[in-house]
Amino acid sequence: MTDALGPRGGRPVIPAPGRGHGQDDDEQTDPGEPEVIVAVDTEALSGLAANRVVEAMEAAVATRGRADIALTGGSTPRAMYDRLIAPALRDRVAWEHVHLWWGDDRFVPRTDPRSNAGLADERLLAPAGVPIPTTNVHPFPIDRALADGLGAGWCAAAYASEVRAALPAIDGWPSFDLVVVGIGSDGHLLSVFPNSPALTSDRIGLAIPAPAHIEPHVDRVTLNPAILGAARAVLATATSAPKAEVIARILEGPRAPGVLPGILARRSGATWILDRDSASRLSRS
Ligand code: 6PG
Repeated sequence: MTDALGPRGGRPVIPAPGRGHGQDDDEQTDPGEPEVIVAVDTEALSGLAANRVVEAMEAAVATRGRADIALTGGSTPRAMYDRLIAPALRDRVAWEHVHLWWGDDRFVPRTDPRSNAGLADERLLAPAGVPIPTTNVHPFPIDRALADGLGAGWCAAAYASEVRAALPAIDGWPSFDLVVVGIGSDGHLLSVFPNSPALTSDRIGLAIPAPAHIEPHVDRVTLNPAILGAARAVLATATSAPKAEVIARILEGPRAPGVLPGILARRSGATWILDRDSASRLSRS
């Protein structure tokens, strides 16, 4: 297994791992601000998010002949996937040129209801879903790791190698055409929780011990949040009133990604799509 170490050089948008990108650092380049869209409800949010995903796929296929999209887990993707399989969006995409990846997953079998890849299997990748070749679908190799007793660390490193071999890089970091993230109630994204070792790691793929404060309490595997800085675009979504305060702190507070990793998606080139409830504490909403 080649190691999954990332570069130690600088990053275009967010600070480099190993140089304190999880810390507060006034000397870093200004990452800019994202576009923030407030949807009237969660249904509208799902439609807007799915549309953004399709636009990113179309643009990437048009400019470089393929699209590499990193998906995520949580509750928002399910409705977004339902929108993607509707003919109005599905038929706009040259799916044979699309490659689907995951920014993170739970270290459970793909058939487990908690699996992020398994969530896509339910509708998006089902026979009535999108016509994407199975060879273009790239989940973390969790099933193999579980079957062979290889562990989450092996799984994360193997996935990092696969990603690195397939994607273009910016300063050595894999550059997805779009990284989709949800935002947790503690301000996390991917499986990168507040004060996570991932925030200061040089590794592209990491095993994360089961979080005690966030469900589900299972081990995770995640890509380094540095992928957010190398991505051509980032799409962040959040819903519901309990997230309103953390969303306001992320989008309008001091940039302290060690405390709130979601701040790593607060950059130019990112789009945040929120429902009214989660946006209710924003001063500009
Ligand atoms: C996971 C995710 C995680 C998720 C957020 C938001 O596997 O749990 O990747 O980062 O996106 O926790 O989840 P909700 O959409 O359920 O709020």
